[in-house]
Amino acid sequence: MNPEELETIASEEREAQARIPHHVHVCTGTGCLAVHSDQVKEAFDAEVKQHTLEQTCRVKGVSCMGLCADGPLVAVEPDGIMYRRVTASDAPEIMQSLGSQPVERLICPTDIPFFQRQHKIVLENSGKIDPDRIEDYIAADGYTALAMALTEMPPADVLFQVMRSGLRGRGGAGYPTGLKWSTVAKAGGKRKFVICNGDEGDPGAFMDRSVLEGDPHRVIEGMAIAAYAIGAHEGFIYVRAEHAQVIKRLKGAIRQAEKLGILGKSIGGTTFDLHIELRLGGGAFVCGEETALIAAIEGRRGAPRPRPPYPAESGLWGNPTLINNVETFANIPPIIRNGGDWFAAIGSERSKGTKVFSLTGRVQHSGLIEVPMGMTLREIIFDIGGGITDGRQFKAVQTGGPSGGCLPDEHLDLPVGYESLSDVGSFMGSGGMIVMDDSSSMVDVARYFMEFCKTESCGKCVPCRVGTVQMYNLLERFTQGIATPGDLALLEELCDLVKYTSLCGLGQSAPNPVLSTLRYFREEYEAQMVAEEVHL
Ligand SMILES: Cc1cc2nc3c(=O)[nH]c(=O)nc-3n(C[C@H](O)[C@H](O)[C@H](O)COP(=O)(O)O)c2cc1C
Ligand code: SF4
Repeated sequence: MNPEELETIASEEREAQARIPHHVHVCTGTGCLAVHSDQVKEAFDAEVKQHTLEQTCRVKGVSCMGLCADGPLVAVEPDGIMYRRVTASDAPEIMQSLGSQPVERLICPTDIPFFQRQHKIVLENSGKIDPDRIEDYIAADGYTALAMALTEMPPADVLFQVMRSGLRGRGGAGYPTGLKWSTVAKAGGKRKFVICNGDEGDPGAFMDRSVLEGDPHRVIEGMAIAAYAIGAHEGFIYVRAEHAQVIKRLKGAIRQAEKLGILGKSIGGTTFDLHIELRLGGGAFVCGEETALIAAIEGRRGAPRPRPPYPAESGLWGNPTLINNVETFANIPPIIRNGGDWFAAIGSERSKGTKVFSLTGRVQHSGLIEVPMGMTLREIIFDIGGGITDGRQFKAVQTGGPSGGCLPDEHLDLPVGYESLSDVGSFMGSGGMIVMDDSSSMVDVARYFMEFCKTESCGKCVPCRVGTVQMYNLLERFTQGIATPGDLALLEELCDLVKYTSLCGLGQSAPNPVLSTLRYFREEYEAQMVAEEVHL
């Protein structure tokens, strides 16, 4: 596949789309599918068939439109009309309305901050393309960045642009992506690997899953550019076996890319070869940790090992390995297309670009959002999220999942970024954002995350294996109202011990939800204490 062939496919597809006056896009993201958007799409398909409207209307299943709480969502293009809570029985009415008055009672306003205040780079194709068709992706400038890299840019130029962009890993820790790529590029050895970490096990997080489901070719393109830049010819995408839709989409996308010569041998007539395979994980949170994930791909038990050596030097089967998150790879094609400086101009001083969040909990508009780094928590929760449901008061926002923390209203004006969040005891993590109102007990929240960590601990090291159980038992005493001041002191001591002596990030960050709730909501712990030991 060379740039000319790509352009031919793109223009043929664009012309075919322009010939059809009406386009009905039905969201097939997970949130909408959960409320039967598949049946809605079938109803539209049946309408087109019954009235032989194939030349006037194209019905397309598209990736997540974002406002998951109001699904199933349907958009009518080019009119720019969005409908919410559409059922299969609404399809005939919407079809009859094409080109005339829209169906008022189903309209979802798109001039609200939820849509207006987002900045979409990773999700630029969301709601627009059919993830099952590579032609749709190509018509939206897909694979032009790869073609550009292969034909116009030596690997060093690709590395330079990624470095210039200031992109930092979206898997949680925010390690500079360009630096990681350069380390693998410089590493010796003939065999190198590129791995996409799509495990995403944090409760409340569904960003990576949505990107893989909704725009699989974008991630494959990002991986292919990375492989070219670092000199790898083999890639793996690690996803959870229970995510059937992701697996189906990725398998289809890899097959389509191979058929068009975008993956495989001598890509685009160059000497660059790349083969990408899927690896299915058993659904353990710890397998998202890079060394555990590598062990799992090798067919061993998914348990972390001490670092160094880092995967960049010694990863898969002892070879230099680049491992990046789904969203990190999804940012690469636009960086190559538009240049690193373009990306670096978006976001804040130390955190460049945008961040995808799954905004959930007690907000009016929950769903998948993408905002520039540096936007404040208040803007995200009250503008984009539309504020708290049922007229209740905001109490806290949890970011970073089990490794993160709960921030109270005094931090609502905090600009979102890697350092800004960790400075106040939370964590960017991969992008889960759970909003809580004044009915939530913060001790319960801490106990919930500790239960998660104790269950997900792989058990390899004592501080985490035993410490998370002990911390959970202490938190249980608080929720039962029988904790003593001694329990509180012990809980704090254990937080420190587990944080500083655990082998991997799971144990090191497991105390964070407790530490942050103790820091900001200590009175809730104290209110659930008794002065003396109670023997049950
Ligand atoms: C317990 C644990 C779970 C993790 N889960 C994920 C995950 O699901 N996805 C991910 O990309 N990174 C996860 N990470 C971080 C990875 O170890 C690694 O840093 C990341 O994949 C690197 O990609 P990035 O540089 O693009 O962020 C996890 C880390 C820990 C400690
Ligand atoms: S910190 Fe926990 S999850 Fe990590 S290696 Fe130790 S026991 Fe396993």
